[in-house]
Amino acid sequence: TASYEELKKRVLAVKEKMGDRLFIPGHHYQRDEVIQFADAAGDSLQLAQIASKQHQAEYIVFCGVHFMAETADILAADHQKVVLPDMRAGCSMADMADINQTERGWEQLQQLFGDTILPVTYVNSTAAIKSFVGKNGGATVTSSNALEVVKWAFSQKDRLFFLPDQHLGRNTAHDLGISLSDMAVWDPIQEKLEFEGELDNVKVILWKGHCSVHMNFRVDHIHRLRKEDPSVRIIVHPECTREVVALSDDAGSTKYIIDAISSAAKGSKWAIGTEMNLVNRLKQNFPEIKIQSLNPTMCPCLTMNRIDLPHLAWILESLEKGDVHNQIKVDKDTAYYAKEALDKMLQLT
Ligand code: 13P
Ligand code: SF4
Repeated sequence: TASYEELKKRVLAVKEKMGDRLFIPGHHYQRDEVIQFADAAGDSLQLAQIASKQHQAEYIVFCGVHFMAETADILAADHQKVVLPDMRAGCSMADMADINQTERGWEQLQQLFGDTILPVTYVNSTAAIKSFVGKNGGATVTSSNALEVVKWAFSQKDRLFFLPDQHLGRNTAHDLGISLSDMAVWDPIQEKLEFEGELDNVKVILWKGHCSVHMNFRVDHIHRLRKEDPSVRIIVHPECTREVVALSDDAGSTKYIIDAISSAAKGSKWAIGTEMNLVNRLKQNFPEIKIQSLNPTMCPCLTMNRIDLPHLAWILESLEKGDVHNQIKVDKDTAYYAKEALDKMLQLT
């Protein structure tokens, strides 16, 4: 097997040779060994914005997870090809909502609520679900713009069907002043609405999905830390539960967390509740700030981590030879409506 230095040289050689024919976007949760080669690093929103504008490169080598590569393909120009260095890089949250379950749920919700609901989906969802949302007049959201998009959605309809992350949905609706008692949960396995009270009061229907990485940051971590050192500031991603967000000092998307740490006072202490690679990178980049993970055992996103240097080198060298592996191609019909949902979000942001 090739050494790290050898692989690095090989990646650089392909990048040099292919020049502008190649574009490598990378999500901030990617490994250091991969993100160092990204032409643009960003959170989900920034990567979608870049994909909607980067229409020159022939090949987009997406260093992130499957749904992000799908989004890039939907927003790409016709001549561009999007590839994912390892097809096993999925997202367990996106896998929690499939299109058949969604359509069945939608039918039942319409029976309960008539034409008063607008579907909205976190970008962490399949292209088919984005397409369903677009077809029904809704929009996608990311953790960076959920507040603006959800506000817009309420200007369209009385209630929202928020897929697939119940926590981002609940945290966002709460920030807009919606009471927790007016939020219902749709259980796609039982095909049942979890709600106690008058159905008329339901404002948001949350799909029962979650991020397994962000569920690792728990209330007991916060209590322990507060007891050990009350001067530590706690900042978490809104994919964490409502209880965790409520007990933290601040919450926000990947970009929000990076900005907060970038502008933090020297010597200040922070505990961060998000993916391990990002927390470690912030620790390296800001040695004058005392940073720890909110969960001391550190929490990697295993699927993000599947994109590693050997896979990156392999896919790049294949492209250089003209062999396109792991292309992510969303069919035209699905892409058409998914793009409507994505464009709506991009216009509002
Ligand atoms: P953001 O990039 O929107 O912060 O989302 C985090 C995440 O879990 C990506 O999968
Ligand atoms: Fe999916 Fe969570 Fe990993 Fe993001 S961090 S890709 S939401 S599993």
